[in-house]
Amino acid sequence: MTQADLIWFNGELVAHEDAKVHVLTHALHYGTGVFEGVRAYETANGPAVFRHLDHIDRLFKSAELYWMEIPYSKAEIRAATHEVIARNGMKSCYIRPLVFRGAGPMGLYPIDCPVEVCIAVWEWGSYLGDEGKANGVRAKVSSWRRIGHDALIPAAKATGQYLNSVLAKVEAEKAGYEEGILLDQRGMVCEGTGENLFVIRDGVIATPGYSSSILGGINRLSAIQIGKDLGYEVLERDIARGELYLADEIFMTGTAAELTPIREIDDHPVGTGEPGEITRVVQREFEDALHGRSERYAEWLDPVPAPAPAP
Ligand SMILES: Cc1ncc(COP(=O)(O)O)c(C=O)c1O
Repeated sequence: MTQADLIWFNGELVAHEDAKVHVLTHALHYGTGVFEGVRAYETANGPAVFRHLDHIDRLFKSAELYWMEIPYSKAEIRAATHEVIARNGMKSCYIRPLVFRGAGPMGLYPIDCPVEVCIAVWEWGSYLGDEGKANGVRAKVSSWRRIGHDALIPAAKATGQYLNSVLAKVEAEKAGYEEGILLDQRGMVCEGTGENLFVIRDGVIATPGYSSSILGGINRLSAIQIGKDLGYEVLERDIARGELYLADEIFMTGTAAELTPIREIDDHPVGTGEPGEITRVVQREFEDALHGRSERYAEWLDPVPAPAPAP
């Protein structure tokens, strides 16, 4: 992971080492931040941000759900993202917009703390590795349940909520697996620590819906669309844990992990133990869409304008 030189912070580009916050930043104490994970890909027409407006919409929705008014418009956040990519000379990158409550009155009532915004970019290969993307990863059902609707807002991408994912991720890695799968409060399958999940059996693709406490993944929507466009039946429905062991194929989607197959779950091989045919076909289409090789999904890419020449 290579950090870029410049970070967009509260309206201006600052050097990486100068993008600092106070130790009494509210979000450090209480997790009062919301964020996005976005990627830009190198295409024949230069870098382009995948489903940029969908990520910006989700960022604003998450902020509103936690009572944060972002002091910039969606158009300004989009332009700032373009600027930080172009000014850092990134061809492709991971993009991390973060909106957080800054230093102000302490205590749990956050409304009088300022809302601050930064957008950082860095070079980041596939989160679960190229080998994982090609041959699949080993996953384990976590002992930790995904946060429920009656405690937090699973559909919001809020910083504090990620302690749940951290517990499951550390548990999985310490036990020798690459990813943890969380069940929801009812014991139905929910998602990975940073990815949505798809289960394929007898040619039908299924993925848990909002009633299973998922984060509504943007890549999840893309995989659903691609699956349907390829002529597969794609169902959003509850998935029982036992179905993971009966599945012919399982894959995960997320901005960081892109589309990564699961080859083993709780030490049982998934299907043949190698990524299956449907996973491969959906993954190929998805990769083409990400990298601007697909006309059908060209509208999912937001090209980064070249930076204005220096005066
Ligand atoms: C908990 C969780 N679920 C699912 C996802 C997948 O969402 P997306 O496809 O929008 O990256 C992510 C990543 O953002 C995540 O952190």
